[in-house]
Amino acid sequence: MIRVESLNKVFGPQPDEALRLLAEGRSKDEIREATGDVIGVQDVSFELKPGEFFVIMGLSGSGKSTLLRCINRLIAPTSGRVLLQTDDGEVDVAQAGPRELRRLRQEHLAMVFQRFGLLPHRSVRDNVAYGLEVQRVGHAERVRRADETLEMVGLGGWGDMLPSALSGGMQQRVGLARALATGAKVLLMDEPFSALDPLIKMQMQEEMIRLQRQLGRTIIFITHDLDEALRLGDRIAIMDDGRFVQVGAPEKIVTEPRTPYVADFVAHADPTGVITAGTVAVPPEHQRVDELRREPGSRVLAHRTQADVEIEVADDGRVLGMRADGAGAELVPIDTLLAEEAPTSRYRDRAAVVHADRTLRTLLAARNVCNLPVLVVDDEERLIGLVTEREIIHAIIEKRGHNGDTNGVTA
Ligand SMILES: Nc1ncnc2c1ncn2[C@@H]1O[C@H](COP(=O)(O)OP(=O)(O)OP(=O)(O)O)[C@@H](O)[C@H]1O
Ligand SMILES: [Mg+2]
Repeated sequence: MIRVESLNKVFGPQPDEALRLLAEGRSKDEIREATGDVIGVQDVSFELKPGEFFVIMGLSGSGKSTLLRCINRLIAPTSGRVLLQTDDGEVDVAQAGPRELRRLRQEHLAMVFQRFGLLPHRSVRDNVAYGLEVQRVGHAERVRRADETLEMVGLGGWGDMLPSALSGGMQQRVGLARALATGAKVLLMDEPFSALDPLIKMQMQEEMIRLQRQLGRTIIFITHDLDEALRLGDRIAIMDDGRFVQVGAPEKIVTEPRTPYVADFVAHADPTGVITAGTVAVPPEHQRVDELRREPGSRVLAHRTQADVEIEVADDGRVLGMRADGAGAELVPIDTLLAEEAPTSRYRDRAAVVHADRTLRTLLAARNVCNLPVLVVDDEERLIGLVTEREIIHAIIEKRGHNGDTNGVTA
């Protein structure tokens, strides 16, 4: 979809010399002293799948905007390639001639800016239609698509207003609509929500998640806000001094920060929306065979620390039943439990079943409505492990899962 290869950007008089020194392993500061050059981006490579939501984070000056601007060539990269998949095959944005570059920006790369960047004397509708006008789409079709996109971002009926009549959050919706209306497959967003109030920002994030599911655009999104990154990103890249120091799924970034810089970044992250049930679940253990009252085709497993909890599992790994203190317990999918009107009415003899990709927050909710350990299952409903308060608290404090292997059940 989009692939960036060994991208470098040097600001200053001697970029080639700066790149040579960089290759020798000299630091950004040393290079600035020797050549007067500032390293904006150094040796960044990544590849995105269609529909991926890729978030870039880093301290001020770490090179986020420079990288984004090199991708659509608002800034010319010093070296490296930015490859886009188009109908005519793969195109390098860094090498494109003026006409091709214009076409790429119109049809493939749309940008959403922090300060909205709307044209003040054009109506909201004409702002949204602007990209289409540049693409020479006819008037009636422009209006139709602009209104349709405004509807999509919750601004149906606002098309005739001037941007100044809209609040900041609404103006950013217009900015978003303008980018979406072009049909561009890749959206580049540079801190699009950072100028908004916290509540509006949260609404925009939810909106973004919804639109992303609906439209499947590929998004490169820059933010300073870790919670925003964790909420939105399929993957997050952390930038330091122009480089990617770690790239990975939100859960990995939080639970396995690779450098002290990344660890500092995630130190205050709320792990409950990020760490998954599959990570914290502890596999149960086999009972001694002579104790089993087993049927052919299944086996009984015991809880590691709560000796009175037994689980009967079919040979294919699916859970057949659970016993606590010798009495049968009811197994209920978590969403069924949470949908109940009086959720605490039968706290005692039920256990929640939670899918492995649900988060700690869901596990907390599950423990709030049932006293028995939560059963964590995979896509095929096979048991991965169990979760009690112990695992939840450990994960919140340590920001990591248990240390065992999660496949212990079938081993
Ligand atoms: N036009 C320029 N000329 C010289 N140096 C520049 C230029 N633009 C950016 N830089 C330098 O490149 C580095 C990266 O800047 P950039 O604006 O990309 O950072 P950023 O991560 O987007 O920061 P912020 O979070 O504050 O927006 C900084 O050291 C900056 O001083
Ligand atoms: Mg910036």
